[in-house]
Amino acid sequence: MSDERYDFIVASNRLPVDRVIDDDGTASWRRSPGGLVTALEPVMRDADGAWVGWGGQADLELEPFDWDGVRIVPIKLSEDDLEKFYEGFCNDTLWPLYHDVIAPPHYHRVWWDSYVSVNQRFANAIAAVSSQGATVWVHDYQLQLVPRMLRQARPDLTIGFFNHIPFPAYGIFSQLPWRVQIIEGLLGADVIGFQRVADAGNFSRAVRRLLGYSTKSPVIEVPHRGAHPARRVIARAFPISIDVAGFEHLARSPEVQARARQIREDLGNPKTIVLGVDRLDYTKGIGHRLKAFGELLAEGRLKVEDVTLVQVASPSRERVETYRQLRDEIEQTVGRINGDYGTISHQAVSYLHHGFPREEMAALYVAADVLLVTALRDGMNLVAKEYVAARFDDDGVLVLSEFTGASDELRTALLINPHDIDGVKDAVMRAIEMPRAERRKRMRALRKRVRENDVTHWSESFLRALAEARRRAGETGGIDALGELEWTVDRAPRA
Ligand code: G6P
Repeated sequence: MSDERYDFIVASNRLPVDRVIDDDGTASWRRSPGGLVTALEPVMRDADGAWVGWGGQADLELEPFDWDGVRIVPIKLSEDDLEKFYEGFCNDTLWPLYHDVIAPPHYHRVWWDSYVSVNQRFANAIAAVSSQGATVWVHDYQLQLVPRMLRQARPDLTIGFFNHIPFPAYGIFSQLPWRVQIIEGLLGADVIGFQRVADAGNFSRAVRRLLGYSTKSPVIEVPHRGAHPARRVIARAFPISIDVAGFEHLARSPEVQARARQIREDLGNPKTIVLGVDRLDYTKGIGHRLKAFGELLAEGRLKVEDVTLVQVASPSRERVETYRQLRDEIEQTVGRINGDYGTISHQAVSYLHHGFPREEMAALYVAADVLLVTALRDGMNLVAKEYVAARFDDDGVLVLSEFTGASDELRTALLINPHDIDGVKDAVMRAIEMPRAERRKRMRALRKRVRENDVTHWSESFLRALAEARRRAGETGGIDALGELEWTVDRAPRA
């Protein structure tokens, strides 16, 4: 490792770039979809920043390199790490556990061991590139042990952590055999951010129950232990968002507008296009959505000539068995609905098992009269926010599951409980039949809300809280007097 050092380090399991191999065999890096990089890129450039993460392929051993003004520090994950750390502990233990055990989590000690060792590898790499007193921002459930490991190695650092997925209620979290280690791992951070107020509450409760520390939202008192002085940790909600202006700009472009018209035409000019966009994941309630749509067709409340459901299901974690099974189930259901209700000229469900570039997504949002989000549990759901950002015409209806983080903010959507199939059906009918004036009123309110908290606002709020927490720690020997802090994102109403 060279002796390069940075003042601001972001760490996430995946790097913000994907490695692509061109036709002539040369490898290059392309910005991966997702807003995190958009939000952090300007901060990274200003602050002399580096991004530590995995390059997305097994056994990829690469030296740090520059990408678009950002220093990229790749971490190698072996085939064995992928199996035990990524597919195992991250996506077959933590993911189902943190999403309310919609699928059963599997607990294996060898997976845990791998989680510890990969987290340690990340912590070592971050420690090696951090300058004295640097700020480190660690992201998501794959790296929950990193804050503590890092604090032990480098007490001079300011450490933030943001959990992009839900944090479960104690009754569920307490299943985890390594629950204490996870909580202690996270408490190594100065500020721990969550999507919802409820997630931060669940975390603080777990801290009280498991460690007996006193908490008074948003402060957690970590008592003095051995050589480590007492500290105060902040745990609170910072709801993430998207690049709202960028998305709107894209949606307004003549190319995207033309493509949206073309999509409607290609679908046979239905009166209504209902859209679903998800990673193919069991947390997204795609089966519930298809059931509701199929029943509406069966009952004649919808006619296949009038309505098409476009379901984009991007491939995800395909080596994990639960995901394999889900794909089979969804594709069987789509096949059955199309077989039962499709005609030569009209398909009931247009199912697309691909990821699409941002431009195509924007065109789909512009074309869609209704966006249907039926997640059974979702940290935020940025698709809902993208749809709202794209609808500069103040039209379109958002049907949104109340089990998404987004539903805390997007209160004028048609909110649904996806388990209540009759309720979902009624909401879909109401969305399809909604008069223009009501659509406009609701969408305007949604757009105002999304504009108020875009991804830059999110990252600035988090980093401000982090800087403030550290400043007070420096002044008092512990983080103090938090009552005076202005918590700008506290405006999110409770669910
Ligand atoms: C969610 C998680 C991310 C993860 C993404 C894609 O959004 O919060 O941390 O990167 O899913 O999943 P993958 O397993 O492909 O990284």
